[in-house]
Amino acid sequence: MSEFNRLRISKNRGFYNVKMNHNTNINHKKSYSYLYRYFKWVLWISFSLYFFTSFLLTINNNIKPITIISTSTNPSSSVISRALFEEPQLISSKGITESETLPLKVYIYDLPSKYNSDWLTNRRCSNHLFASEVATHKALMNSDVRTLNPNEADFFFVPVYVSCNFNTSNGFPSLSHARPLIQSAIQFVSESAPFWNRSMGQDHVFVASHDYGACFHPLEDIAIEAGIPDFLKKSIILQTFGVRFRHPCQEVENIVIPPYVSPKKIHSTLQNATHGKRDIFAFFRGKMELHPKNINGRIYSKGIRTKIWKKFSRNRKFYLKRHRYDGYQSEIVRSVFCLCPLGWAPWSPRLVESVALGCIPVIIADNIRLPYSDKIQWSKISLTIPEKDVHKMGTILEHVAATNLTRIQKNLWDPSNQRALLFNEYIQQGDATWQVLRSLSNMLHLSHRQSEGAQPNHVVTREIEGGLVEDS
Ligand SMILES: *[C@@H]1O[C@H](CO)[C@@H](O)[C@H](O)[C@H]1NC(C)=O
Ligand SMILES: *[C@@H]1O[C@H](CO)[C@@H](O)[C@H](O)[C@H]1NC(C)=O
Ligand SMILES: *[C@@H]1O[C@H](CO)[C@@H](O)[C@H](O)[C@H]1NC(C)=O
Ligand SMILES: *[C@@H]1O[C@H](CO)[C@@H](O)[C@H](O)[C@H]1NC(C)=O
Repeated sequence: MSEFNRLRISKNRGFYNVKMNHNTNINHKKSYSYLYRYFKWVLWISFSLYFFTSFLLTINNNIKPITIISTSTNPSSSVISRALFEEPQLISSKGITESETLPLKVYIYDLPSKYNSDWLTNRRCSNHLFASEVATHKALMNSDVRTLNPNEADFFFVPVYVSCNFNTSNGFPSLSHARPLIQSAIQFVSESAPFWNRSMGQDHVFVASHDYGACFHPLEDIAIEAGIPDFLKKSIILQTFGVRFRHPCQEVENIVIPPYVSPKKIHSTLQNATHGKRDIFAFFRGKMELHPKNINGRIYSKGIRTKIWKKFSRNRKFYLKRHRYDGYQSEIVRSVFCLCPLGWAPWSPRLVESVALGCIPVIIADNIRLPYSDKIQWSKISLTIPEKDVHKMGTILEHVAATNLTRIQKNLWDPSNQRALLFNEYIQQGDATWQVLRSLSNMLHLSHRQSEGAQPNHVVTREIEGGLVEDS
């Protein structure tokens, strides 16, 4: 469980500092010291290479800028790498050099507290499934890619929290204030500094972490009708929503991020799960209306959850419960398969919880675009069942259990999957915020600073396509 050791690497003009928290647990110590040795070594190499590179850059000053050099030994993986860092030993088995410094700088606007921190008085705000807007902000604030000098920034992060406005009568987040709040933040930003106006926000990054992302409405038809507000259309949106076809709510530069699940809670669940047995075959707990048409006449989950309930609730192998309770993670950790059917939107926090707790996600949400699919090999760690085949789920799961179950479980237990889906307060190599930055480093062409041809401090990177993993 080394991934839970907080690892903080801060860089300050070439000086690296590795801070780790101490843990008396022996197992932790073991992985910990392994990690420590590994990082010490990696940092040493990076450090030497850094000087070696700067040396080369200095002597080659008049030669054309360094271009992309990115190779992959494994066609099913995607890599960002800088050639000079491509020591074979630095490349993990997946071909990803997670040890390297990310080649970008992010400036974070210091907005008046009404746009963000005021909302945190409600503790739910930083812990619920939409809380990646808060988590990303925190992690970036603590990160070494943060710059306090906007002139050297490649990207600008605009920290507006819009999912924290819980409706007192129904408890759900109300999004009606989202558009005016963001619009007013943009006005603030564009009046107080020249960076928005120079490219109309093209290198500005926002989080829209609720159902239909930048459309700011939980119901698809209304979200589509409303569309993405004009003032966001040129920017980069980090959103949980993603589908693999043209959709008005993703007609914008976007990065699909995972929904927020507290890493502390996952850690605690794993520690509590002492016996390690998976005695539940297939698990689902959550909203599952018997009559999917709710009072507004809208059909929840395209009726899929109702089908699941009707077909499998009396099947002994299926553990289906219609009411959420706080300790449900302890059930996930006891389960072999965890059903992740669509709700209002295709994505679900269950996906993150399942992967993090070692339960094979069974994705029932046609055409969903999964987070970081260029990094996480979803087809190797999950099952996808087409919505129309949901009635065959029993047979499908039995078949997998009899054939390739252990292979999928083994793939699932690669800690890098879990790491990529969790947001930590301090960025860890490979974690959810790190993946955002990795994705942004493939979008440097959108950066005004870069396109202006300001001193190329950074080597251009290119993403190798491959390993596009979600099978249909
Ligand atoms: C809050 O919930 C109530 C009851 O469901 C609903 O009538 C009302 O429109 C909601 N308010 C907002 C701002 O969404
Ligand atoms: C950016 O443009 C807006 C609208 O045209 C204007 O009100 C604002 O003052 C401009 N900002 C700066 C810093 O010049
Ligand atoms: C783990 O167990 C402790 C002690 O029983 C309990 O307080 C805590 O809530 C449990 N954690 C989770 C995530 O269930
Ligand atoms: C496991 O088997 C299922 C059903 O035959 C198949 O769809 C899936 O791709 C297999 N997964 C792996 C990782 O082998």
